Amino acid sequence: MILVNLETKVGGVKLEHPIFNASGPKDVTREELIEIAKSDSSAVMAKSCTIEPRMGNAEPRHYDFKGGAIGSYGLPNLGYKEYKKIFPALVEFGKPIFASISGLCVEDNKKMAAEFSEMNSVAAIELNISCPNIIGKPQVGYDFEQSEERIQEVSAICAAGKKPLGLKLPPYFDFAHYKTIAEIINKNKVSFVTCINSVGNGIVVDLEKESVVIKPNKGFGGVGGIIKPFGLANVRKFRELLRREISIVGVGGVFSGKDAFEYILCGADAVQVGTAFMQSDTKVFGKILGELKEIMQRKGYDKLDDFKGKLKEI
Ligand code: DHB
Repeated sequence: MILVNLETKVGGVKLEHPIFNASGPKDVTREELIEIAKSDSSAVMAKSCTIEPRMGNAEPRHYDFKGGAIGSYGLPNLGYKEYKKIFPALVEFGKPIFASISGLCVEDNKKMAAEFSEMNSVAAIELNISCPNIIGKPQVGYDFEQSEERIQEVSAICAAGKKPLGLKLPPYFDFAHYKTIAEIINKNKVSFVTCINSVGNGIVVDLEKESVVIKPNKGFGGVGGIIKPFGLANVRKFRELLRREISIVGVGGVFSGKDAFEYILCGADAVQVGTAFMQSDTKVFGKILGELKEIMQRKGYDKLDDFKGKLKEI
């Protein structure tokens, strides 16, 4: 049996292997973050935070269905100051810690980016420009002018603090949109992109009740899980359009090693697990990793570069 080397890098941050948790599910509290730190996840990603703590939207705000989930949580988090206290306590577990910021305005993001940039315990910062669930606030990532302003200002701050900055992007569905956002990203000091966030503003119907299944926003919510084809397409297209030095993290519907393999084949340097972790527990990271290893061994690949980005056309 061949030994496989699964090491990879995201924005210059070394990871033992490519599988780690996505921002969102079960990464809000200190206890949850410690669970992830103790698991087989190769990094610890935190819930997107805001300046002030938030309770989030009214319940029920999450609903699982076959193959996926819908949710509108409304950014429940402890507030960035609490994460500044928690991150140093996670260092002893020996894996990179990613802060995720989702300020309600540019100034909030600048403040959080500046303070997290100064922290030794923070390996990198993911700027979320794609939250679909703040009622009354459109997704920044679909407004190219606003995106450019946020990316410019926050990337300058992270660059000054020598902290890699990543962008959590919404799913794009049109080649013209990919081109516009890729040009903005390429002009700025962005070290990685993470695609895709949940597909925003879906509806799931309860047949018996003839109603929506979540309370906030009249039942509209972000959909995860069944979105893999769009995640793969976004990774594939951004690998074509972005500067080579910009890493890509694939996320969206990763339940198995096969899913992770597909993302890497499309060009991902690492893969995050969201809905599958939400619907199970921390054992999911080791399960996906084991399956990925098996696929690589069967195919005779001993490192990710043997197949990364090598999806064939027919
Ligand atoms: C929430 C959902 C998202 O997809 C996101 O990027 C940030 C926050 C939420 O509902 O909490």
